[in-house]
Amino acid sequence: MLDGRRHYKKAKDIIHITGMPQEAVSAEGILSYIDKNGPFNSEDYANSIQEDHQKVVGIIKSLQGLGQVVNVEQVTRKHWELTDEGRDVARTGSHEAKVFNAVPPEGIAQSELMSSVPNAKIGFSKAVSCGWVRVDKGPAGARVCRRVQSVTDVVRLHLAALQDSADADVSEKLKAEYKKRKLLQEVVSKSYTVSKGADFTLNIEKPETDLTPEMIASGSWRSKTFKPYNFSALGVPPARGHLHPLLKVRAEFRQIFLEMGFSEMPTNRYVESSFWNFDALFQPQQHPARDAHDTFFISDPATSVSLPADYLPKVKRVHSQGGFGSQGYGYDWKLEEAQKNLLRTHTTAVSARMLRQLAQEKEFRPVKYFSIDRVFRNETLDATHLAEFHQVEGLVADRGLTLGHLMGVINEFFKKLGIEQIRFKPAYNPYTEPSMEIFSWHAGLGKWVEIGNSGVFRPEMLLPMGLPEDVNVIAWGLSLERPTMIKYKLDNIRDLCGHRVDLQMVASNPICRLDKQSGAARPDPRLARLERRQQAVLDELAGLGLMLDECRQRRGLAPSSAAPAAAAGPPPERLRVAVYAAPDRPPLSVGLLCRLLATHAPVWCRAHLHSSCAAPPAAAAAARLLPPPNGVSPAAAALHLTLIWRPGPLRTVVSPLAAPPLQGEAVAARLLARLLQPWRPRLYAESPAVDAWLDQADELAAAGADRKARAALVSAAAAALSGRRWLLGAEATLADVVVWSVLTQLDAVSPPLRRWADAVAALT
Ligand code: PHE
Repeated sequence: MLDGRRHYKKAKDIIHITGMPQEAVSAEGILSYIDKNGPFNSEDYANSIQEDHQKVVGIIKSLQGLGQVVNVEQVTRKHWELTDEGRDVARTGSHEAKVFNAVPPEGIAQSELMSSVPNAKIGFSKAVSCGWVRVDKGPAGARVCRRVQSVTDVVRLHLAALQDSADADVSEKLKAEYKKRKLLQEVVSKSYTVSKGADFTLNIEKPETDLTPEMIASGSWRSKTFKPYNFSALGVPPARGHLHPLLKVRAEFRQIFLEMGFSEMPTNRYVESSFWNFDALFQPQQHPARDAHDTFFISDPATSVSLPADYLPKVKRVHSQGGFGSQGYGYDWKLEEAQKNLLRTHTTAVSARMLRQLAQEKEFRPVKYFSIDRVFRNETLDATHLAEFHQVEGLVADRGLTLGHLMGVINEFFKKLGIEQIRFKPAYNPYTEPSMEIFSWHAGLGKWVEIGNSGVFRPEMLLPMGLPEDVNVIAWGLSLERPTMIKYKLDNIRDLCGHRVDLQMVASNPICRLDKQSGAARPDPRLARLERRQQAVLDELAGLGLMLDECRQRRGLAPSSAAPAAAAGPPPERLRVAVYAAPDRPPLSVGLLCRLLATHAPVWCRAHLHSSCAAPPAAAAAARLLPPPNGVSPAAAALHLTLIWRPGPLRTVVSPLAAPPLQGEAVAARLLARLLQPWRPRLYAESPAVDAWLDQADELAAAGADRKARAALVSAAAAALSGRRWLLGAEATLADVVVWSVLTQLDAVSPPLRRWADAVAALT
């Protein structure tokens, strides 16, 4: 960028330099305006010169770019503006005036009036409340008559005045009233206050952007100002090559194979003989796939001449006569058919060559091979099929491999791709037995989709090669295109390969990273949707609750002893709990813990009457349960507790979000106690003894009226309390709270338990 003139030209486009013809608005104009009049507001200035505000803002921004020439400060302003309806009223009169004007001195039938004036309903009620008209109910129906001779349409006058000037003399109260009537609206606008800066000047000198050899030679650089570097400017992206999405996904697949200890097979033979592509794989010569409709045969050179002389007769024999325990196909195998050249239809041809090579080694050694490369099929082209695609293929050769190994390896392989849910379906390949298609669960489509093919290579393929009899080879293959299309969200394969590919797509697509985390750990979108809905409902409920509280407060209904939350800092975590409880069995432990928590942390509680609940719980009982409202907003609360009264012999159900509902008061109490832990560690202290009490209390709560169970708990409590203050020693625990709650609900607090029960109740 040695040519400074280019920058010069550009700068001229943005700011108007001294001597340039001036337009209505220019940097020059703005500077001399400040010089003469002092600081100004961009919006006022734009109005005064009748110019578009955005244009003025643009120039201010460019002046700002010059450094300290001007100081710019953003301001937000509100002003009143007439709505469309308001403008209409200002022009033709208010609805009430129109109604009044439509009433003749002798009166008019109400029905006629209502149908003859636009917006008659609003206008009529306003005219009545202004005392302009009245309704006489006579035998002939309602008639509307004038109550005054004439009226002044103040609304229209006010609006017209406001239309002329925002400063018109209309009281704020009236403006608010007109806003409510949707005649006026408050508009917020952003503008800038511009004042002289430290380097204020009337002559904007365009700073130099380049130091040129001429400047150095002439020494003129000494007197020039140079534009400071803009280090946050985005650079020009360097021109470079880009990897095609397929190559990026291929790199990921290759990485997975390498991680699993596989080595890559040489895949450079696109042209292959039928022998290696089909015959070596025990695919009979009359197999339909060997037809020109399915396979591209090569015309020049049409045949291969060098087929392995020692191996070829064995392949011929297994096809035509059988062997190695197989009957073969029993047909006349022809060399000419095997010699035909073709574009390989699968990379399993490569696998065959590699396995034959392996069999020729002196001693067998286990191998794990993979390849990812192009194969060709004579397909009808459509959105998902091309005549060529890439195959990903893996194989393992070792002694004693079974179908179980194959399924295990495939599972492992796909897990590394982020696919956890795999299913197998029996299938047929000429070269594998058994064969399985591989399906995976597609969460987006909500169904199982085929993602690959696999199997155990047949002895008719392996034994003629010379591999030991106890060696098995397990293998699988899939296309590279399908996962690539899914990953890059393409639904037409022709957007991925071929002449229609958008090179910009190739250039701008991100690198590929497969989600290698476990599939199970990924959230189910349906669950997330449900959670969002639940959250929305809870939020709505929260808002309703707040409104209700306000109403109650205004009517003096709210309990007076407010206990504002005193927690320092944000809540450690937020728990949302819904407790369903029967009104005749209020879960007192939940109430107690909740109120206790409210003295330490922001708690937001709500009681809700289920539609199946005929009678609300006694006010006193309800008041004992939840802490009085303390002005905590739902957003700031550490606990959202929704208590839903629902009748019946029902146990308390706690349902924290995203968990199956938990049963029982003890569980609810435990959850709340855990939140209380920072302040009341002893209360929460987990111990088998506490658990035992909670279980017993819960059992009784479920059994309810069972007298024996009740008596057992009462006497156990009495025994534990003889000589002690609390059920479990020196400090109150959750056991005390829950046992107390259940016994109180069942009205089973006997005299020896009274003192203890009172002490528990007083814990708050
Ligand atoms: N060659 C098979 C195909 O074209 C894939 C495959 C490879 C199947 C290895 C089984 C074993 O689909």
